[in-house]
Amino acid sequence: MGNFLQPSRKITYSETNADVLGEGSNGTKVYRGKWENQTVAVKRIVCEQTDMENIQKEINILIKCDSHKNVVRYFDKEVQGDFIVLALELCEFTLEKWVEIKGASEDLPKISRIKILEGATEGINYLHSQSPIIIHRDIKPQNILLRVDKTIDEITVKISDFGICKILPEGRSCQTITGGSAAGTDGWMAPEILRFLKETGAEPSQSEIQEKFVMTKSTDIFSLGCVFYYVLTWGNHPYGVPLLRNGNILVNKSIFDKLDIEHKGFTWLLKAMTSKDIEKRPPSSEILKHHIFWSKEENINFLEDISNSSETHSVRLENCITSLEARDKLFQDESGSWWMQLCPDLRTHLTKKFGPKAQENKSTVMKLIRLIRNMHNHILGKDVSSELKMSMGVSKSDMYDYWITRFPYIVTVTWIAFQPLKKHANYALGKYYSDFNFEFGSFK
Ligand SMILES: Nc1ncnc2c1ncn2[C@@H]1O[C@H](COP(=O)(O)OP(=O)(O)O)[C@@H](O)[C@H]1O
Ligand SMILES: [Mg+2]
Repeated sequence: MGNFLQPSRKITYSETNADVLGEGSNGTKVYRGKWENQTVAVKRIVCEQTDMENIQKEINILIKCDSHKNVVRYFDKEVQGDFIVLALELCEFTLEKWVEIKGASEDLPKISRIKILEGATEGINYLHSQSPIIIHRDIKPQNILLRVDKTIDEITVKISDFGICKILPEGRSCQTITGGSAAGTDGWMAPEILRFLKETGAEPSQSEIQEKFVMTKSTDIFSLGCVFYYVLTWGNHPYGVPLLRNGNILVNKSIFDKLDIEHKGFTWLLKAMTSKDIEKRPPSSEILKHHIFWSKEENINFLEDISNSSETHSVRLENCITSLEARDKLFQDESGSWWMQLCPDLRTHLTKKFGPKAQENKSTVMKLIRLIRNMHNHILGKDVSSELKMSMGVSKSDMYDYWITRFPYIVTVTWIAFQPLKKHANYALGKYYSDFNFEFGSFK
């Protein structure tokens, strides 16, 4: 079978199993194939007259957006009998498959999970910043693809599958839709959509919205937040196992307890993105400025700037410090101090330098931040032993690893506590913040 025997066709593929890249909904199949001598992915959609409008919509979105590096490229389309086939940029992995193998395969370029999430957020941000706005509506690991470029040893994230995207009318940031539009996928849909489907009696699997529903960019952010947790925990979901997910989403029952120590501080971001309240979900443009995407050096610079700023005095500053110190338990052990969490070499160093007093008053978060600042300034000094230099490292990047594994919440808690200062230029902290206000909320 297949259509290699049809020379007049621009897009060709063979239906052998070896060439199947994936399967979608409603009989859609994706094959490895050819277009103008290039190897491409061929998305073959069963074409009934009624679908034509939707398929054309998917193509229009691809044509409009595929110049962005994080959106899958579209090359061509062709009607072939009962099918319409699209020639798309070939991507070697879905995010789902990459997570399944934990990103590890011998010939696969290395990329951090954070970089993957940044690429996905950039792609969505591009859709959301179009005019008119494009809402994807079906963000999930199977619709986020990874293109592997071996020549430059790089992986690029590509947002894909624009089958149920919605273009909002010009000048609108949300949309009331009516009739026959697909909603999304079980387990990745925002609670407001699930509730709507439930109230109108539609089965999520039917994914048909029959009546009015308000759709905004934040519906994509909910799904993206679930994807963030899924990637950071190698395959877990904040709302549990597939069977329970929709139920848990509806009653707002999420758990974020499987994050690695170095990612624990991102819990507040993940909670905000998957919040039941749509206005608490940060826009993609603000997520891109969140410290989850800062380099290790930037994290240390931030703590240094906080420490330096705190040496001036103002009521505003005092309020931020009070709100920071209210979270001091996150840094202390049972004795009410963070001292014992320092490595023995550092404790010896500080005791040598300051005598028995070194151990006193090691309870406040501000003192910990000051130590972080000072240690970076002093680490290359003569009085620092080579053992300590070995344990802490000497670069800001090494030192970030040292601190974050002992005090995983130090950046995020400080960042949220000092947020009120962002609008006051004299503190020079503005560059670390976006316009969005993150809340402490509850924390487990
Ligand atoms: N460009 C591509 N490169 C490689 N595999 C792809 C590509 N596009 C889709 N696939 C695979 O095919 C599956 C279904 O494609 P998709 O566009 O998501 O169809 P549907 O709209 O029916 O969900 C994807 O989950 C993925 O596994
Ligand atoms: Mg899909």
